[in-house]
Amino acid sequence: MAFTAPGLTAEAANEVTGTLQERLSALNDLHLTLKHIHWNVVGPNFIGVHEMIDPQVELVRGYADTLAERIATLGGSPRGTAKAIEADRSWDDYSVDRDTVLAHLGALDLVYDGIITSHRAAIEKVGKVDPVTEDILIGQTAELEKFQWFVRAHLENQTGDLSNQGAASEEDAAAKSRG
Ligand SMILES: [Fe+2]
Repeated sequence: MAFTAPGLTAEAANEVTGTLQERLSALNDLHLTLKHIHWNVVGPNFIGVHEMIDPQVELVRGYADTLAERIATLGGSPRGTAKAIEADRSWDDYSVDRDTVLAHLGALDLVYDGIITSHRAAIEKVGKVDPVTEDILIGQTAELEKFQWFVRAHLENQTGDLSNQGAASEEDAAAKSRG
């Protein structure tokens, strides 16, 4: 790195940009997955969920942009290609194609479990060396958690139980929630 933000060591910047690159690929994967769901939901309540997803796509695309620009600000080179997503990810491709609203939302809840858990781990990691990056990730996580509540509200019954409770995979969650 030829430069980084004033007050950060090159070593710290390297560590932070490495964490940010993984989160960038996760967000790029997420906004593509959300569009996939937007295109593949069928059945009753189609239009509500089809339209609920697009504002989240815009938000997540904006978050990816913020993280990519943070990497560049810290002197790194953000990678935004499909190959970068494939290389960085430790999770499987979203596995549900054409299916009902509830099946997709059951599976999407698990996608958000993964992305939010990893965002929180990244907050913990970068918080030790760069509170400015930590602040960015905290703001993003709050909104991701709020959207997960939108998803979960469709899966919840009057006693607060989720239809996909205990699901071990997206397919399992989709099957449990399909009804
Ligand atoms: Fe559309």
